[in-house]
Amino acid sequence: MKIGIAADHGGFALKGIIRDYIVSLGHHVTDFGAYQLDNKDDYPDFVIPLAEAVAAGALDRGIAVCGSGVGASVAANKVAGARAALINDHFSAHQGVEDDDLNILCLGGRVTGNSAALELIGAFLNAEFTGLERHLRRLGKVKALEK
Ligand code: RB5
Repeated sequence: MKIGIAADHGGFALKGIIRDYIVSLGHHVTDFGAYQLDNKDDYPDFVIPLAEAVAAGALDRGIAVCGSGVGASVAANKVAGARAALINDHFSAHQGVEDDDLNILCLGGRVTGNSAALELIGAFLNAEFTGLERHLRRLGKVKALEK
């Protein structure tokens, strides 16, 4: 798959670990930055371009990291077609994709441990949207807000 990653200073260290892990799984990674640690940088500058690329279909999935994961999810969800969520548990990492067609996983670099983050990413990347009618109906009601 084509996977995009993005992080501000709060997620910068975890992003490097994530990048290596995704490459090791055989996926292609596009890194939207930050490319160096800058404690004054702003998560929207990295997360919004990632979300736009995912929403445009240029990428299959995205992973966005800030300190808590909250700002990343707030920013990503402003982009029409992005479906982002801050995930801290294994069940939601795959069920979010299966039921809600989650396409951007948000993580907190200051909250989620490195090993736990990689396990969440594995569950997210291995999951597929079921396409069941009830989920399409619910997502249709969300998409209606994007017009
Ligand atoms: C940056 O200090 C921090 O606010 C940011 O990384 C993120 O946690 C926001 O939700």
